[in-house]
Amino acid sequence: MPTVTVRAPAKVNLHLGVGPRRPDGYHEVTTILQAVALYDDITATSVPPESLAGPDGAGPVFTDEDPIAVTVGVAGEGARPATSDDADGPGDTGAEPSVSVVPTGKDNLAVRAAYLVAEAAGIRGEAVHLTLSKGIPVAAGMAGGSADAAAALLACDTLWGAGLDRETLVALAAKLGSDVPFPLTGGTALGTGRGEQLTDVLGRGEYHWVFALADGGLSTPAVYGEFDRLAEGRLRTGPTPADAVLSALRSGDPAELGAALVNDLQPAALRLRPSLRRVLESGLELGAIGAIVSGSGPTCAFLARDAAASVSLAASLAGMGVARAVRRAHGPVAGARVIGPADPAGPGGEPGSSAAQSPPLSPSSSPA
Ligand code: C5P
Repeated sequence: MPTVTVRAPAKVNLHLGVGPRRPDGYHEVTTILQAVALYDDITATSVPPESLAGPDGAGPVFTDEDPIAVTVGVAGEGARPATSDDADGPGDTGAEPSVSVVPTGKDNLAVRAAYLVAEAAGIRGEAVHLTLSKGIPVAAGMAGGSADAAAALLACDTLWGAGLDRETLVALAAKLGSDVPFPLTGGTALGTGRGEQLTDVLGRGEYHWVFALADGGLSTPAVYGEFDRLAEGRLRTGPTPADAVLSALRSGDPAELGAALVNDLQPAALRLRPSLRRVLESGLELGAIGAIVSGSGPTCAFLARDAAASVSLAASLAGMGVARAVRRAHGPVAGARVIGPADPAGPGGEPGSSAAQSPPLSPSSSPA
């Protein structure tokens, strides 16, 4: 059966400046995103429509609303069922204990991505099975769901030979969510608007990150809501500018970048999850040169001086037991790319060399 596998990266916000809530409910942001080497692999496989059970066991009925049929399977971290361990400890509020389990229905962004490609390309009568093989932590503030959606756009486009151009795929990505265009392009980018309008940032250097994962997720709308409550009564004209991070990226000095990291959502995330404060402090005590809540959390991101320092920081953090799990990843890395029919190495590391690879949709920011 025809099959295509696409690998897409996670992201970390080096800068997340947030302005006031707009009339459409979104917040104007100025953000610098970096793609990091944690990946989800999405495999899209054409299946015979008649093999799927329809209303009377005769396969799906295709309509204008349902021109295709999509089924989903999840492997990796997101496949685990919700457990009581997903609940927060005392003093924590605002979490969604079961949010760390990937949905498999039409509320899954990857499923919606398949529908959007079908609609844009006039595809009808196809049945596709999407396997999400997750190396990116779920509901962690690292855009794992967005990476899946971006990868599903490219995988379905390739599988069906739709031939949608890059601009169209990026426009479809923006429809799916503010964070979905970025995993298509990867590298390092400036995001404006609600975060979906991207410009490549040329910078120097390779950066070594350590991520401390927390139990359970934090809901992005809940964190933005808490941000609004904290900002109440204070005059906010626009998002905090990203000048310090841009200047650090030009210099390529990790220590300068570590000192420049900004996340305007961090106070809100800490209000909803006070235990993260201890995690951030622990990383800094252990020698991290920068510490920040990743996006809307609850993952904490630590910048290490170099690769060796990231290995010892990760080991020490894991040993302290302040995090559910610890991951290391370098950045920037390229955006979503076809890695072939399948990759036996799985999504944990760099794109495999065994399968035919396509170039990324846009060149990643390479060292100047
Ligand atoms: O765009 P996306 O669907 O990923 O956004 C999820 C939610 O996060 C939005 O419904 C909104 O509550 C919040 N959000 C926001 N401002 C942004 C991006 C997201 O308020 N720039």
